[in-house]
Amino acid sequence: MKRQLYLAVTIVLSMLRLNAQQKDFSPGEIWYDTKQQPINAHGGGLLRHQGKYYWFGEIKKGKTWKVPGSNWENYRVVAGGVACYSSTDLVNWTYEGVALPADTNNTKSELHISNVIERPKVIYHAATKKFVMWFHLDSPDYSLARSAVAVSDHVAGPYTYIGSVRPNGNMARDMTVFVDDDKKAYHFYSSEENATMHIALLSDDYQSHTATDKRILIGQSREAPAVFKYNKKYYLLTSGCTGWSPNAASWAVADSILGEWKPVSNPCTGADAEKTFFAQSTFVLPVDPEKGKYIFMADRWNKLNLEDSRYIWLPLQMNAQGVPEIAWQKTWNLSQFRKR
Ligand code: DGJ
Repeated sequence: MKRQLYLAVTIVLSMLRLNAQQKDFSPGEIWYDTKQQPINAHGGGLLRHQGKYYWFGEIKKGKTWKVPGSNWENYRVVAGGVACYSSTDLVNWTYEGVALPADTNNTKSELHISNVIERPKVIYHAATKKFVMWFHLDSPDYSLARSAVAVSDHVAGPYTYIGSVRPNGNMARDMTVFVDDDKKAYHFYSSEENATMHIALLSDDYQSHTATDKRILIGQSREAPAVFKYNKKYYLLTSGCTGWSPNAASWAVADSILGEWKPVSNPCTGADAEKTFFAQSTFVLPVDPEKGKYIFMADRWNKLNLEDSRYIWLPLQMNAQGVPEIAWQKTWNLSQFRKR
């Protein structure tokens, strides 16, 4: 009888937990999906489609090891492919499955688990009705330095791998894609051994590069690009290049996307701002861009246990001078924007 009661209570409690709606962002804490599994979507990006948000990110699962022979902090896990989650409120996320799997069998495949699959970003092409995923593809020592593309008719996938490229012959590592109001899409990528950022205009179908390819932040060694538009200007957040270890973020601004980019300063304020709150940028999500309200998405990497890397999502607010400001919040929700 006692045992039956215990079982009944356990079942009710787990049902309650499964149905529990989270209300707040808790940066740095383990973030559980709606099935109470830790969200596994690192170096990710968001796509809003038909009233829902989709979060794509790297699956990091299993043991972390240091690649033998590397003279830098080349810690890694097997490439796990790209996961997709969906949400209507940005706090409660439902696992949609593996959007792009890594290849566990064919060692010749570019998507083989021994390679590196990082920073996936998905954009939607309305005319072809295709979802286009770009990501950083690399070899275990990061010497391949390529960008790869996959497409799908369905937002959550499965995505069909098309192939990889060095855009206009250039090395390409950390990256993001940005679709402007005129529907032109741009690929921002760290190039030239990460010393210089490039912005390449993608083809009309978003699936390849045009020859329009501009060098910006020349020789400044920036990576982890995240782009947004505010008040007709373009903003780019980046990190420095220190492997998995955190450093100071910086923002740059331009009047036109292929125009002059002016580096400005660190958008983070308060304690640990010089280390980006121990995280590295990955995406900026517009929440109410007219009012200068965005979410700054970053990864707090755990280089010795990459699977346990955490997510740092914080409000990014534009001040009256057009300066992006990101301050630490232990817990917060979207109503926080209005309080400031
Ligand atoms: C920093 C990059 O931003 C990450 O995406 C990853 O490539 C690590 N370097 C690898 O050390």
